[in-house]
Amino acid sequence: MTVHWDPAAREWHLANGRVSFAMRVLENGWLGHLHAGAPLGVGASLRHLGPAAFAGFTNRVGEPVALEVPVPGVGDFRVPALVVEGPDGSTVLDLRYAGHRVEPGKPELPGLPSTYAEDPAEAETLEIDLRDEPTGLLVTVRTTMFADRPVLARSLTLANGGGAALTVRCAMSAVLDLPDAGWRLVTLSGTWARERYVHDRALIPGRQSVGSLRGASGLEHNPFLALRREHATEDAGEAIGLSLVYSGNFLAEAEVDPFHTTRLRIGIHPEAFSWRLEPGATFTTPEAVLAFSAEGLGGLSEAFHALYRSRLARGPWRDRPRPVVLNNWEATYFDFDHDRLVAIAARAKALGVELFVLDDGWFGRRDNDDSSLGDWIVDRRKLPDGLEALVRDVRALGLRFGLWIEPEMVNPDSDLFRAHPDWAIGVPGRARTESRQQLVLDLSRPEVVDHLTEALVAVLSSAPIDYVKWDMNRNITEPWTPSLPPDRQGELFHRYILGVYELYRRLTARFPDTLFESCASGGGRFDPGLLAFAPQAWTSDDTDAVERLAIQWGTSLAYPLSSMAAHVAAVPNHQTGRITPLFTRAAVAMFGAFGYELDPTAMTDADLAEVARQVAWYLERRELLQYGRFLRLRSPFEGDGNETAWMVVDASGERAVVGHYRVLAHPQPVRNRLRLRGLDPDARYRVTTWADGFGAPVGSVERAGDELMAVGLGIEPPDPMPAGAVFDAIRFIRGDFAARLFELRRIQPRRRGAGA
Ligand code: GLA
Repeated sequence: MTVHWDPAAREWHLANGRVSFAMRVLENGWLGHLHAGAPLGVGASLRHLGPAAFAGFTNRVGEPVALEVPVPGVGDFRVPALVVEGPDGSTVLDLRYAGHRVEPGKPELPGLPSTYAEDPAEAETLEIDLRDEPTGLLVTVRTTMFADRPVLARSLTLANGGGAALTVRCAMSAVLDLPDAGWRLVTLSGTWARERYVHDRALIPGRQSVGSLRGASGLEHNPFLALRREHATEDAGEAIGLSLVYSGNFLAEAEVDPFHTTRLRIGIHPEAFSWRLEPGATFTTPEAVLAFSAEGLGGLSEAFHALYRSRLARGPWRDRPRPVVLNNWEATYFDFDHDRLVAIAARAKALGVELFVLDDGWFGRRDNDDSSLGDWIVDRRKLPDGLEALVRDVRALGLRFGLWIEPEMVNPDSDLFRAHPDWAIGVPGRARTESRQQLVLDLSRPEVVDHLTEALVAVLSSAPIDYVKWDMNRNITEPWTPSLPPDRQGELFHRYILGVYELYRRLTARFPDTLFESCASGGGRFDPGLLAFAPQAWTSDDTDAVERLAIQWGTSLAYPLSSMAAHVAAVPNHQTGRITPLFTRAAVAMFGAFGYELDPTAMTDADLAEVARQVAWYLERRELLQYGRFLRLRSPFEGDGNETAWMVVDASGERAVVGHYRVLAHPQPVRNRLRLRGLDPDARYRVTTWADGFGAPVGSVERAGDELMAVGLGIEPPDPMPAGAVFDAIRFIRGDFAARLFELRRIQPRRRGAGA
């Protein structure tokens, strides 16, 4: 049991030994917040953590009283959780406790993706009802605690139990009031080709936020924020994270008030949102996930990774090894035909690749990005015998087949647009802004979702297609839909995302064995909402190994390695023009769902042989690299950013792979040891190093687990030293963009303990 209720004190304490969350009914019936974060003992009241008694902001308007569902206009002037306009136009609410229940497990949220419990014993859900008598609005505050995870899930359901329609203007998924402001705020921000860079700054009085008003979670900011204590590191110190299981417009915000308390909130962005709640109707917010860590940002990430990998992702691919793919995009762009693709696939097969992905350009008459989105009919000029023949020939090679689609879009130059111009989002009588010569289909309309279901079911059942890369390459402008009356246009963005989820739900249900990968100009919708349907996402269009260090590091703050598709591309890199060693490109991409994005028919024999060794090396360690515990060691966002290091270790500490990357070479390298984590301190490890290629290792030594964690692995001078090498500054400098991979295997028996 994790939900403890004290009926006399009207106080709840959700506790599982890893995180605590406490609330109570205040004297005026409102839901007060007492504590969130560090695990506290149960049994004793925590009521003194809030005001001794609270009957509303009668005298001290603006005092920082911690609340679960703050509303505007009643004395709390900080940002609200809920703004609901009543029939008189006022947004004043008086949400009073009206009962609660506790259920084992975790309910699904209607129409929305969410985390889940596979067995009711894994979680317990507390639902607290709050009622505003004058309007009849009933707010259900739903909090799920998982039995053995330092995480909580929160969502609200609003039900209109009154006789008049209400308008929801803001419905945050979670608000979290913290008693101090001694935190640094960490967010993930960037743009195309440099998504999810880590930004870390001190909290200051006022509001600080990231968000999206683009109709997608976006390339610019991720629906995630974390607070860390000033001295928290990757493995020590307090950190709290909020993540939103949602793919549309979002807001993630911190507000520090004059008394230096902090209010966090996360949910659908209230700008450009409103929702009409008719009598009897309900509205459920997306789910927010709160994680707590006393082991720094690393501990926070591990909590998100474990939850999202195993209790957000679903379907058979959740736990299956993800195939090594070769995608033809950077190899051919739009310029291919049947024979060229089969030649690429044949070469890929010889290298050990498992699945060939045909990217953009196979449908309509698409020789560039000017036309054909919407016309999901194979282009017979390029594939005269159709998709069936291509899939047959690719499969005959012993490869599986993947296909790119961009279902949410339409080019004005397409048969679909000519037939249904009103299906594209826009305001009649006004110009529509085009981006990449395309418009967004109005997925808020059920007939559009039905059409896309039919068109895509036809494509995906026309041949055995094992993988789908579902792209989305522009954001929504001129938001307006003919399907809603003027006073309900604020529903469009959310209804659009509900339409996307519905289409995903139908297609993943119809093709349960197909692996879906999401994509949005690279990582423009890399969010927990889509991970519930597509267990992996194309992390970024930037395939440059050096750029990927920052992108993959930042992404890993919230998302597991199994969700991050990462490919080796040709050099000079198509995004940066940089020439990095083939070894380094693979050593970076292997920390993820690995593959290639290049033309193997254009490679030298030496490079082909090396790629074959890379694939074999990866396949041998794939489970560890996709599903192991990922630990960040050295940040590309710290210091001069010249070094990055990370590792992945299995649950028992038996086997690990460490990646160390150095951007620029410097002469006379300073002495450098890399301290590892997650190993068995009592065991000895065989440490094997690869530095220039995946053939014979550079060397191999035996070292103790405690030493590797407390003292570290030798980077400069290198340990192991390459055979025959002497450490001198000149001989061991391997140039810019260098990488080293270390594999650690535990040697039995252990030095101390059982086998010693
Ligand atoms: C987007 C994707 C790329 C590729 C192209 C095709 O940019 O992110 O990976 O699929 O579209 O047009």
